Amino acid sequence: MAADVVIGLQYGDEGKGKVVDYLARNYDYVVRFHGGNNAGHTLVVNNNRIAVHALPSGILHPQVCNVIANGCVIDLDQLAKEINQHGGPSAFTGRLFVSNAAHVILPSARIVDQETGGKIGTTGKGIGPTYAAKMNRTGLRFEDILNGSMSSVYSTDTIDTVRPFITNTVKLLQMAEKSGASILLEGAQGSLLDIDHGTYPYVTSSNCTVGGALTGTGLNHKSIRKVIGVMKAYTTRVGEGPFPTEQPNEIGDKIRQIGGEFGTTTGRNRRCGWLNLTELRNACAINGVDYLVVTKLDVLDTFEDISIEPAGVVKGWNTSTKGLRNKHKLPTNAVKYLNMATKSLNAELKYVSTSPEREDMIVL
Ligand code: IMP
Repeated sequence: MAADVVIGLQYGDEGKGKVVDYLARNYDYVVRFHGGNNAGHTLVVNNNRIAVHALPSGILHPQVCNVIANGCVIDLDQLAKEINQHGGPSAFTGRLFVSNAAHVILPSARIVDQETGGKIGTTGKGIGPTYAAKMNRTGLRFEDILNGSMSSVYSTDTIDTVRPFITNTVKLLQMAEKSGASILLEGAQGSLLDIDHGTYPYVTSSNCTVGGALTGTGLNHKSIRKVIGVMKAYTTRVGEGPFPTEQPNEIGDKIRQIGGEFGTTTGRNRRCGWLNLTELRNACAINGVDYLVVTKLDVLDTFEDISIEPAGVVKGWNTSTKGLRNKHKLPTNAVKYLNMATKSLNAELKYVSTSPEREDMIVL
């Protein structure tokens, strides 16, 4: 047992990137197991803001090996761009591995997604058409780059940037585990966007829930130690689909402004609303969550009353919690809120994030 899994419990954008970057110091490997550059993970260290879409969120830690596993779909141009933005291929030697069985997002898939994804409000990155081709057994995998069949689609520069990192990541991870390495499996999107367990058809096309961490890596259930569920202190959704606790009014506007709730990948306004315990309970049950992380608590600092559906209303705390790192300094009403938000979820609240900055985290 060496692998912990970070899972989003809502509609994505829970702040998993920050959580993974924060936790990565304790791990040897950080592994993306599903999705592609529909994701956008924002990492902030000493006021430097870095957004990654294709690379795992462990890249800022030099000792961490980053793996893009077989469950992922990858846009080669985007991956090459991010590798070059972060020091070029030589900066990743021995610490980036891309699965030979991951699927390549073809430029044509991107065009099809942009033409047809509007009803759902997809990110237009070609994710759905690429997974559809995978299921249809017509997809192209990274191993096809090694045998030269991608040269008419992607430039030589792009292919040469990515090629050195392609390997059998199933064997790599199994051997890492055998040798006692610790592994953090990084979920993207969120449980309510899961192709099986989300609000179908308004979902992404992969398994964002814990099962995806097994099929998406080749690790087996005995490898999984703890499941860490990440929930934002309120709810947001980008794209179409049901959102029972949405506040399409001045409350939602205020959350959006204070929380900076604009898409990392598409820049779209995120829809904003209150927490939904019914959905969170389901997400915790499906994922078997052990530990909870609540993010963006500080965004609620100036609200008079804060709702949690269907539990009730908590009085606001009217005190800044931004940047707080000490649990004893949490205002009483914030403690009440955290308690009401998490006590029925059958999991232990372990961390509260109080700003985008890496170290602004309360450990409980
Ligand atoms: P797709 O993943 O681009 O196919 O989009 C399907 C749905 O998932 C749309 O509603 C997107 O807005 C949503 N989605 C995909 N990736 C993310 C993410 O990282 N955060 C939030 N929503 C996402």
